[in-house]
Amino acid sequence: MTATLIAPSVLAADFSRLGDEVDAVLAAGADWIHLDVMDGHFVPNITFGPPVIKALRSRTKAVFDCHLMIAPADPYLEAFAEAGADIITVHAEAGPHLDRSLQAIRGLGKQAGVALNPHTPESVIEHVLDRLDLILIMTVNPGFGGQSFIPAMVDKVQRVKKMIGRRDIRIEIDGGITPTTAPLVAAAGADVLVAGSAVFKGDAGHYAHNIAAIRDAADAARRREFVA
Ligand code: DX5
Ligand code: ZN
Repeated sequence: MTATLIAPSVLAADFSRLGDEVDAVLAAGADWIHLDVMDGHFVPNITFGPPVIKALRSRTKAVFDCHLMIAPADPYLEAFAEAGADIITVHAEAGPHLDRSLQAIRGLGKQAGVALNPHTPESVIEHVLDRLDLILIMTVNPGFGGQSFIPAMVDKVQRVKKMIGRRDIRIEIDGGITPTTAPLVAAAGADVLVAGSAVFKGDAGHYAHNIAAIRDAADAARRREFVA
């Protein structure tokens, strides 16, 4: 069994020291860096875009997992690819041509992801599975960190896991992940857990403990599932 991957969301970092925060979570055991891009239109909040990602790119070779909460996304895909994204995830709800967006991402040489809002049924991705490297299941409504995990999403994770079958597609969970909620989604089939507030809690000296607590709780649940 491979360990659950942890992708800290820099949304909860100290933006005045963003580069140092990225270095600190990577030193503390983070696997990927999750970058939440918000446009104030698709979601009711605004964060950052390609220039900030490009600036961070110069500091590390770690996987940059870009979660685009923007509509439209297509006109900006190239800019995110050039800025140094490794994975580009678009929302299924953000445009009418998901298949085209996913083709465009892979055409840029990047891994393609799709995100599903809590109310969106997994059936919307049934016909694009072969274009996907990652499925991001939102366990809060996108836009803000620090919200409560929506328990009804555990069932969706199970359904997506079944739907993927033997395909090489990762399931990523985003929103309200803590050492308490991580086991629920890990047992249901999650491979990657995004966490903002639960990672950037306390000062940098706490990050390693915070990351390990989430990963250990998730791995223990997956091991129990495997044995059962
Ligand atoms: C929410 C973002 C998340 C968020 C998670 O719109 O997509 O990545 O930062 O934050 P927490 O872990 O605090 O729920
Ligand atoms: Zn996110």
